[in-house]
Formats: sequence, structure tokens, C-alpha cells
Amino acid sequence: MALTQEEINHIQSQASIVDVIGSYINLEKKGKNYFGLCPFHDDHAPSLSVSEDKKIYTCFVCGHTGNVFSFVQDIENVSFIEAVKIVAERNGIDVNIDLKNTTKYDKYYEAYDIAIKYYQNNIRSKDGKEALEYLHKRGLNDEIIKEFDIGFASKTNDTLTKLLINKGYSEKELIDIGLSNKGTTMYDLFRNRVIFPIHDSKGHPVALSGRIYEKSDEAKYINTKETQVFKKGEILFNYHRAINEAKKMKKLVLVEGYMDAIRIYSEGIKNVCATMGTALTSEHVKLLKKINVEIVLCFDNDQAGEKATIAAGDILDKAGLNITVLRLSGEKDPDEYILANGVDKYKEAIDHSISFFDFKLNVLKKNKDFNKVDDVSAYVNSVINELNKSNDQVLIDLTINKLSSEYGIDKNILLNKVIKVEDTKVLEVVSKPKVKKEKSIRLIELLLFYMMNDIKYIKVYEKELSYINDDKYQLICDEILAFYLKYNYINIADFISYEVDKDFYENILDIIDNNINEELSDREFMAIIDKIKHINDENKINELKEKLKNTTDINEKLKLTDEIAKLKKRDV
Ligand code: GTP
Ligand code: MN
Repeated sequence: MALTQEEINHIQSQASIVDVIGSYINLEKKGKNYFGLCPFHDDHAPSLSVSEDKKIYTCFVCGHTGNVFSFVQDIENVSFIEAVKIVAERNGIDVNIDLKNTTKYDKYYEAYDIAIKYYQNNIRSKDGKEALEYLHKRGLNDEIIKEFDIGFASKTNDTLTKLLINKGYSEKELIDIGLSNKGTTMYDLFRNRVIFPIHDSKGHPVALSGRIYEKSDEAKYINTKETQVFKKGEILFNYHRAINEAKKMKKLVLVEGYMDAIRIYSEGIKNVCATMGTALTSEHVKLLKKINVEIVLCFDNDQAGEKATIAAGDILDKAGLNITVLRLSGEKDPDEYILANGVDKYKEAIDHSISFFDFKLNVLKKNKDFNKVDDVSAYVNSVINELNKSNDQVLIDLTINKLSSEYGIDKNILLNKVIKVEDTKVLEVVSKPKVKKEKSIRLIELLLFYMMNDIKYIKVYEKELSYINDDKYQLICDEILAFYLKYNYINIADFISYEVDKDFYENILDIIDNNINEELSDREFMAIIDKIKHINDENKINELKEKLKNTTDINEKLKLTDEIAKLKKRDV
């Protein structure tokens, strides 16, 4: 059963956000708010502030903001409704939520479940004999095959499609879900391939990857197309199995291929997942930040793998994650490395992975002849270039000293090349980079922040202003008004659990995060209204002037001049 918004609001009003967050991290009261180490980034000084009366929390460094539900959702890695259930139960509120029936994607998961079971049966059948032999030859024993639910799609054209249609799926559904396609008739997408199931971060089966197992001109792997539940850029292979071990080991190994992840995992290193051969996206970064442990990048031992390491490392570095790099020698990928050298050697290599910065220096040194002045100069300049991306003063200092002594360069010359980072700048880089906003936008955000806090400000807005000269903010404003009209009260915490649209949600959290320290005062609010009115009038005047320029009708001209004069008068 789904909960109504009123029930969700009720649970939130009964729950103490300080108690709930305090059960995960230590909180200390300072002034009106509570502070603790933020669990969503590598925090060393308490940056997470929790407000009991506003019922929200925000991190001043990484910008993580939300209410009690979003906190539980992210720290427990559960869905919104599961988080509501957890919060309710902790506060002794009876809720009747059947989690099995809470997702609109059940049809997808169920279909993939059926497909996976069907393909698993196949691999044990006569048809699957060669595929099974292929897996055995690659060193995957039956236990691993079972653990990863690896299966086999036979050469037949439409057996899975028929099976699913018999179970009540329509043709359209099967095409949407990504298991079948339609030519003259319906056919199975995966034929004559070894099947690897792919799961989302919660462990739902959402896609398949099929590999050729005998000589063939076809693509080595084919994947399910992108669907509602499968976006390649949002999924890391084996993530759901790796989370707990990664947290325990404070480390996660990130590789490129399925086979690498399967090999490493089956050798007992369970904190491993794979990017499935795509570039790392911001959604991947979000998944990795949730675990928030050291990431060991262990991509293939070729040029492409090196490039991918730099790209992935740069993104993860920017996101504030601790990254190390493991470059293997000899074999092409971790799977082959382990088969050739054994898992102990690989474990040792993981323990000796180097920092991302050192890895970049190694790459820069490649193909350089350090007897040549030009090469030394090029190298030193590229290192300085890297240093200028960093805000780690210790690293900068150590590196400068090293360069100076290694190549006999005056330290001051090197130091002068490093962009001076003033104290304030350090603060800016370390904390979440706040985008400098136009003054008018700052005012609008402040206006909306006030309105999210108290209906008296909504009422003043309706009476005095009633519109905002910016579509994006007008939409947020409309949502605030809709909440107020529906419930006749407002507070930030309830408002953000009501708002579900993803794009919106980020904008709203941003507004809250940027203004959370504001003390609300009626006088300031009136001043904001006045200033926005003024800006609106100016915009209107400019519009009218433009019209004036373009009209030849004398009456129209008089009317416009009059209107402009009126607006100008109002603004004095
Ligand atoms: P094996 O050859 O079975 O050992 O696979 P691998 O994991 O070593 O693959 P490889 O290093 O060639 O590629 C890394 C990842 O890229 C794979 O795990 C796949 O996710 C993906 N990939 C590789 N080849 C293809 C392809 O032909 N099509 C698609 N869609 N993905 C591919
Ligand atoms: Mn491989």
C-alpha cells in the first residue's frame, strides 16, 4: 500500500531528525544546531549541520542537503519508501507498507528474473554444453557460475519471448523491457550467447549482457538497450554485492570488464565492481561517493586503459574521493593477470597501488629523455600544470622540493610558477564551489527560501509580487504555492519530501543549502520584495522602450511613454 503525503508528513513530524541522524553519526550541539562529521564525503572537521526545528540537514562542504528521509535513503542505500518505513518504525509508528508492491518497475525486474532463471536452466541442458565448457575453460567453476547466475541463450529464435508472453507480458512490454524485438514476428534479443545478468545498485536484475563463446564475427558482447531501469552510465557491475565488503575494507577495486570483476570477486576479493567498458559518469561518481572509501583504479594494461584511468581519476579526484591506481604489468587485464600469477600476487599489487598523482607523474615521464633539456623542461612544466589543479599544499611543497633537487632547478623559480593560493581561495576550493550568481537570482532564491519556511511570506508574495521574471524559479514558486494551497501550511522538510521531480529537487536543495544560515526577518523580506519589484519594473520598462522604438503609431507612442513614466515614478 502506498502512503499518502499526509501520512508521510505525519511520520516526519513525529521523528526527531537529530535522534535519527545521531544514531548513525555523533552529533554535538552548537548554538541552535547540531554538528557532526558528514558521512557523504571524507570529512575531517564536522561539516554536517542538523536543524531540529527546520527538520533538515546540510553539509557545508559537499552540499549534501535534505530531510530525515533523504538522509536514511542515502546512508542505507534504500528507496524513498523504504526510508519512510525505517524512520516510522524507529519512532514506533505503525505503517502498513508492503515494499514488494512499491515500485512501478516490478514488471521489469520480474521479467529479468524469469529470463535469468530460464537461461540458467539452458546452460545445464544439452544445448548449453559448449557454452558451459567455454566458461570452465576460462576458469569459472560451477560455484561461480551459480553465484553470478551466468546462463546461456540458445540458438532458438523466440523461446524466451513465448515463455514471457505465456506469463502475461504483452509484445510491447517485452520490447520496452528489452528482452525481445519485432521483425516480421517477435524474436528473442539474445541468441547463442553466454548470458551475464546485470543488477542495479539495489540488486534488482535490470539487464543482460551476452558474450560470444565460439569464433564469430559478431560483437563480443551485446547488452540490453537502455530502458527505464537500465542506464549504462548509472550502473556499476557487481556494485550491490560489493558495497558491504567495500565499507568493511575501506576500499573498492574498480575495473573495466565483467570478467575482471567476476574473477577478482570469485578469488575472495569481494569489494570489486566494473564500469562495463564505458567512461565514468557523474552518476557513477554518486554511487561511489555513497560508499565513500578509497577507490583502487585497476583498468586494462593498454593505452586505452591508461587513458581511461586518467579520465576516471580526474572525475573522482574532483569529487573529493581518495583514489589510488594499480597498473598491472604483462597481462592485458586483471582477469588474465590473476590466472597467470595467482591471486596473492594480485592482492599484494593492490596493497602497493600508488596515489593518483604519482600515477600521473609516471605517465608524464613516459617517452622523455631526461638528458635533453627540452624534455626536462616539458616534464617540469606539465607537473606544475598538474599542481595548479591541486589544492593540497603539502603535496605541492613536497613535489616542488623533489623537482628542485632531482633536476637542479631553483626552488623559487618553481614556486613562482605555481599559482599562489590565498587562504580565502583555499577555503573556496575545499568547500563546495558555490557558483557566483547574478544579484537578481540571489534575491529570487532568497525570496523562495523565505516562502518555503512560512506561509506568511507566501501571502505577502501573492499580494505584492505574484510573479517572478524567470521560468525556472517561477516553476519552483508554483510548487511552493501548490503545497500551501493543498495543506495550508509549509515547512522545508515536508516540502522537499513532497517534491519529487529530480531536476527540481536539485534546484530546491541548492536554494536551501545556499540560504540555510539566513535568519528570517520580516523587514528583510519586505526589502527583498521591493528589490525584486524594482527589477521587474526595470525589465518591463526596457520591454516598453523596445516597443516604443518599433512603433510608428502616434497614439501607441503616447500610451507607451505614459506607461514608462508611471513605472519610473513608482521606482523612485
Ligand atoms: P573478456 O574478453 O570476456 O575477458 O571480457 P573483458 O571483460 O576482458 O572485456 P574487455 O576488456 O574487452 O572490455 C571491457 C568491457 O567492455 C566488457 O566487460 C564489456 O562491458 C564492454 N565490452 C567489451 N566489448 C564489447 C562489445 O563488443 N559490445 C559491448 N556493448 N560492450 C563491450
Ligand atoms: Mn578479459
